[in-house]
Amino acid sequence: MTNRVYIFDTTLRDGEQSPGCSMTVQEKLRMAAKLVELGVDILEAGFPIASEGDFEAVQKIGQEYSWAHVAALARAATGDVERAAAALRPAKRSRIHTFIATSDIHLKYKLKKSRQQVVDEAVAAVALARNYTDDVEFSAEDATRTDPDYLEEVCRAVVAAGARTVNLPDTVGYSVPEEYGALIGRIAKALGDSAVVSVHCHDDLGLAVANSIAAVQAGARQIECTINGIGERAGNAALEEVVMAFKTRPDRLPYQTKISSEHLYSASQLLAQTITFGPQPNKAIVGENAFAHEAGIHQDGYLKERSTYEIIDPKSVGVPESKLVLGKHSGRHALKQRCQDLGFDLSKEDLDHVYQRFTALADRKKGLRNDEILALIQERQAAAAAQ
Ligand code: KIV
Ligand code: ZN
Repeated sequence: MTNRVYIFDTTLRDGEQSPGCSMTVQEKLRMAAKLVELGVDILEAGFPIASEGDFEAVQKIGQEYSWAHVAALARAATGDVERAAAALRPAKRSRIHTFIATSDIHLKYKLKKSRQQVVDEAVAAVALARNYTDDVEFSAEDATRTDPDYLEEVCRAVVAAGARTVNLPDTVGYSVPEEYGALIGRIAKALGDSAVVSVHCHDDLGLAVANSIAAVQAGARQIECTINGIGERAGNAALEEVVMAFKTRPDRLPYQTKISSEHLYSASQLLAQTITFGPQPNKAIVGENAFAHEAGIHQDGYLKERSTYEIIDPKSVGVPESKLVLGKHSGRHALKQRCQDLGFDLSKEDLDHVYQRFTALADRKKGLRNDEILALIQERQAAAAAQ
């Protein structure tokens, strides 16, 4: 087994189907261009049976980005699989991603089907999809709440029917890393080289990224994730977080992706401009504060040596530079640096005056902007000239 991990991006499918995230065909095309530039391995473009717009988006993305590997979602039902296949027709590299729930809770209340019926429908859908493409993925929805013996039986059956990738979603974000790793390890061992094991984690307990990483350590080689972690309810595993975890900690996580990380920030920004919300300010990697330092002690350390308080070079994710936020916790060093950045090399005496006024103001405000710092410098210069 190699250490190459495939990044399956589902921003335009699982992400798009969540509140405030729907996108027009044009918006999906624009986002797809960014995902291709980012280097995702598989781009899930939509759920063609769900709407005309989704059908068109899958079709157009397959047409326009013929070199990309495009996936479309389908329930394990003839109509769904055929619709996905039709939407994927223009794509040179297409994947049909078919799914059915396997947990007893879903079988009893949602599907009202027996375990045998579900295996039969899963196998039939995979076999049908194989008539259209060699590349078929099967997902056992709610895998983490499924009886593991039954889950293994389903996985073996769909692989025998032609599935090349078997995805074990933590659909409701219920699993914890050790438990999820053990489940993935069991299925990876059972399937051996016959299929790639994939993971798809939701973030209901804030564990989607940790679970995805535990799964890779246990043998999974595909991670399904989204930009900014958007997706159903609390979202999916954030693409930028899994990628940067591997890149930042190769000593512990010796896995490689093909993501060009310098495009992560612009992908995050483009998505934020396209849907109705952006990442929260303290979001790892792409949040407004991810590379901002306000506390005086931190700013002082950072100015002496960046690595004292930064584990990632902001440029490596496309953030132009770190920010020293000037607020009530900031020190003289940071203020001096900011004055220099603004073109003013202040004497010790001038800096003392500006610093006094700054701390008085910063006590009342959430942080000072450059124009407010400039006003303080000018005020001091005017006072000095009048003396
Ligand atoms: O969360 C889930 O189980 C899904 C599947 C359709 C893959 O999104
Ligand atoms: Zn999902």
